[in-house]
Amino acid sequence: MRKTIVAFAASALMLALTACSGGAATPAATGGASGGAPNKALDKLVVGFAQVGAESGWRTANTKDIQDSFKTAGIQLKFSDAQQKQENQIKAIRSYIQQGVDYIAFSPVVQTGWDAVLNEAKAAGIPVILTDRAVDSQDKTLYKTFLGSDFVAEGKKAGDWVTAQYKDATSTVNIVQLEGTTGSAPAIDRSSGFADAIKGNPNLKVVASQTGDFTRAGGKQVMEAFLKSQPKIDMVFAQNDDMGLGAIEAIEAAGKVPGKDIKIVTVDAVKDGMQALSDGKINFIVECSPLLGNQLIDVVKKLNAGTPVEQRIVTEETTFTAEQAKAALPNRKY
Ligand code: AHR
Repeated sequence: MRKTIVAFAASALMLALTACSGGAATPAATGGASGGAPNKALDKLVVGFAQVGAESGWRTANTKDIQDSFKTAGIQLKFSDAQQKQENQIKAIRSYIQQGVDYIAFSPVVQTGWDAVLNEAKAAGIPVILTDRAVDSQDKTLYKTFLGSDFVAEGKKAGDWVTAQYKDATSTVNIVQLEGTTGSAPAIDRSSGFADAIKGNPNLKVVASQTGDFTRAGGKQVMEAFLKSQPKIDMVFAQNDDMGLGAIEAIEAAGKVPGKDIKIVTVDAVKDGMQALSDGKINFIVECSPLLGNQLIDVVKKLNAGTPVEQRIVTEETTFTAEQAKAALPNRKY
């Protein structure tokens, strides 16, 4: 009898503590390290999303897809645009922590410098989901999963195409590279994948490489400078479509024919890029899918239900030649 009373009192105390915790959920209640799950009704869940910005067609499509997916799933989304500034993203994440959202998702503008704010989210018991871009944190318990593309593979696919194009070259092929945002995962990984793929052919030389910050204006400006400083350019590797489209403007303004006088390879495969590919101004595109909304919803639902999620979820992607772009364009969603 005495044992029963003690057990009853302990359960009552646990219940009282759980009820009082209110606002920010405990790790156990959010499917955190200790394993439990909130199992909330979907219309009661709140997710805070800290977006990079609106730097490219890809990003615009990514934002739309995420917002549409949350609407369809009936889950409340709080959204912020960091205008490509890490300090803005950190502020947004801190504000989501204060508001006691159920989950925080974000696409880190750069790879480094996240441990402090991720530890704050962990201490508040709010699980974090990385979408699109990775962080370099060694402590893998700071986030539940990272879902998005394999950027090294994307760079390698671009480099493999260049290598195949110039396999019979007997003289130097001068390549210029338009890099994405300095310090961002796609810029770092695409550069290394590309370099790795072309390293077997000593004729393939990257003669200049500079950031265009993933924007059309940035790509144009850097390409204008390259055209002035480089006596001969055979090939552009633009790490996204927007920078490639900016490069096309610069090449045309310099009186050259993009796709012929200077070949162009890009990454993304957004509609504008695919149109330029089908028009012969771009020669090859490696796809990077911005449609991550449904995968994110899936992760949120799983965490809510206490179902384990993979530490890494890789998006499936393909590549496009001009002919393939022509065939795909009528049904391209973004
Ligand atoms: O992180 C994905 C990259 O960011 C896309 O390739 C680029 O267009 C975007 O700005």
